Amino acid sequence: MASKLFDNGFGYFAEDGNEYVITRPDTPRPWVNVISNGLHGLIISQAGGGYSWHVHATLNRLTRWGQDLVRDDWGKYLYLRDNATGEYWSVTWQPVRRPPERYECRHGMGYTIISSVNEGIEASVSFFVPPDAPLEIWLVKLKNLSRSCRELSLFSYFEWLLGVAPDWHREFHRSFAETSFRAPLGGIVATKRLWDLPGTHWNRAWDYIAFHTATPFPNGFDCDKEAFLGLYGSTTSPRAVREGVTRQSAGKWVDPIGCLRVDVELEAGEEREIVFLLGAAKDTQAVEQLVAKYSDIAAAKAAFLEVRSFWHRLLSPLRVETPDEAFNLMNNWWLKYQAISGRLWGRAGYYQPGGAYGFRDQLQDSQVFLILGRADLTLEQIRLHARHQFQDGTVYHWWHPLSENGLVTGHSDDLLWLPFVLINYLKETADFSALDLIEPYADEGEGTLNEHCMRAIDQVLQKLSSRGLPLIGKGDWNDGLNAVGQGMKGESIWLGHFLHWILVEYGRLAARQGDRETSARYLAQAASLKGAINQHAWDGKWYIRATDDAGNVLGSRRCAEGKIFLNAQTWAVISEVATSKRAQTAMDSVEQLLEREYGPLLLWPAYSRANQQIGYLTRYAPGTRENGGVYTHAATWAILAECMLKRADVAYRMYCKINPALRAAEPQLYQAEPYVTPGNVDGPDSPHFGQGGWTWYTGSAAWLLKVSIEGILGVRPTYEGLVIDPCIPPGWEGFKLRRPFRGAIYEITVENPHRSGRGVQKVVVDGAAVDSNVIPPFSDGQAHTVRVTLGKEPGSRS
Ligand code: GLC
Repeated sequence: MASKLFDNGFGYFAEDGNEYVITRPDTPRPWVNVISNGLHGLIISQAGGGYSWHVHATLNRLTRWGQDLVRDDWGKYLYLRDNATGEYWSVTWQPVRRPPERYECRHGMGYTIISSVNEGIEASVSFFVPPDAPLEIWLVKLKNLSRSCRELSLFSYFEWLLGVAPDWHREFHRSFAETSFRAPLGGIVATKRLWDLPGTHWNRAWDYIAFHTATPFPNGFDCDKEAFLGLYGSTTSPRAVREGVTRQSAGKWVDPIGCLRVDVELEAGEEREIVFLLGAAKDTQAVEQLVAKYSDIAAAKAAFLEVRSFWHRLLSPLRVETPDEAFNLMNNWWLKYQAISGRLWGRAGYYQPGGAYGFRDQLQDSQVFLILGRADLTLEQIRLHARHQFQDGTVYHWWHPLSENGLVTGHSDDLLWLPFVLINYLKETADFSALDLIEPYADEGEGTLNEHCMRAIDQVLQKLSSRGLPLIGKGDWNDGLNAVGQGMKGESIWLGHFLHWILVEYGRLAARQGDRETSARYLAQAASLKGAINQHAWDGKWYIRATDDAGNVLGSRRCAEGKIFLNAQTWAVISEVATSKRAQTAMDSVEQLLEREYGPLLLWPAYSRANQQIGYLTRYAPGTRENGGVYTHAATWAILAECMLKRADVAYRMYCKINPALRAAEPQLYQAEPYVTPGNVDGPDSPHFGQGGWTWYTGSAAWLLKVSIEGILGVRPTYEGLVIDPCIPPGWEGFKLRRPFRGAIYEITVENPHRSGRGVQKVVVDGAAVDSNVIPPFSDGQAHTVRVTLGKEPGSRS
């Protein structure tokens, strides 16, 4: 691989694609990394903005941050001061924003390294979170590039938040904060005597002790913002740094900050390393143990290597090699990393500082682990969500870890994602004993996972219209359709498709498990649902999306706005509700009406006026987010549907249109990070057509990975084995894929000699020809080679 891949003037991919190197700090939007191990998390932008949290990015934020993507001026900073001249700057571009002589930010898997050269001093900081500790490490390296000895002071600085963000009433909140310097730790500790955790009694302490330490032992500190910044001072030019002094301020009743000063003398050419820690633990003893373990410079360096190998071990079992480098680096590294570090463990982004679990969201994300040979982690997620389901099958729409309170909204699809992901888990693992695992319900009682799933399905089956179509209720996957069916009359066609998929799959599963009665019931329901959808929801060239409580139709040629919706077409194909002809016609309509330069729109035309009967979707500016933007999560389903119709060219064309690594070739237009998927890209009805946003915190990452591997490369698990059924661009000469499956490694090579892109002609497993494209499970811990040759004509789909 070339050393600078997809260089766009702001940055490029390096290191086999697993690092993104930003070469100037003024990117068109903050380009961030979300680094988390599930316990501790941090976000850091290329300019040094960002914040840290413990378990929950909103309810348990350690450092203060305000969402402002234009200024990006809330961060955890390091200042350097030349004590001979009084010159000072920040190691990251923010907050001093002095033009550096050299600047580089490397976002990698589990770490970010920001380096700059100012006044002949090279400074480089590696920010990372060890795999299993509740803290982050800043490993700083200073090098004197000048010819004279330099006397420098290094100051760390951030504001403590210690609890629920935003703590808008600062003067109230600071009266509960306590800070002190602890010499044995070589740093400061901070805690708070109040935690206004939602759903709990408002008379409790914040449960942790936060710490910030330095090695070597700091020469000074400040915990009082006024002492550090000076009254009316600013982070751009704080008094302590200007004057080169700290005041050793701490105590109660201060606006709490963390600042440690380390004085460093550097001979010409000399290098020095300094380690800062920042984290939180339950008690003093735990803090002492963590500081003792990580504050040593050698230990911190070892922890950095451990971070790299941890992420490489987790992400590299699945590896693709295709002629498309952008496809490779997204699938080999970034989509998996985004789904795990950003969505599952961090649950936060710059555009959405979250922390909660969405019932449908993290379940879908957890599919990423299946493909990495870590189905155990998917099962954990399934069990966690099962515990947030009520006895009657309904579920929390989202809930907060830590406070364990949540919101029950009555979204009609949430609960069905439980059987959806469980079925995919079973196809991956054949671990049918998982169906018998017992989990409690959120209200009372307990049940096996099988019962949890059936209660979800049966609950949805209780809410059918007189025409046999599922009611949309307070909304379905599309949260913004939240007024369509509040009166429990409106119907959702997309939910009908989804329910059909579930009924068919669960019916088949029940038959496998010997439960003939359930199987027959679900399959019969599936058949009548399919009939009802095809009878009532076909609009001539596509499926309608929904009906409202008054019986008005959404997503029809008769509508002035919102004539056609993407999900009602893609899922008609994915769920096999559409007959072959209708499937073709519906996707033709998608290509003609919805697919634009930057991918398929979620609906078209966008709603120009707020509509009380439809929901808040119509209140978004036209062309943005769910109102006529490219909603990446849903766009991935279009790729899958095209693959199922074997339209390889179209599937790949759509894939390329939403691949951020390619979109970022026009950074000023696209604006968003080149290495992670955006939640949305503005559609043609927006003045910012083509601009990406809502990066990191989007369910599209795990889905784009799944669709790439299972749709385009066509390698997907079934109960019987691994199916190989590619739908690759005809121009590719082939591809290689390493995929773990049921305890063995499959080294798959696919050749495309006739440039058909599909239709398996020949399969050779470990040197022996076999007559099926379903490769059986070996479960022997060994590597097996699979050589596949595609034929001239498309073959049948298994
Ligand atoms: C947001 C929600 C997700 C929903 C999607 C579409 O991303 O988190 O649950 O499906 O919007 O409305």
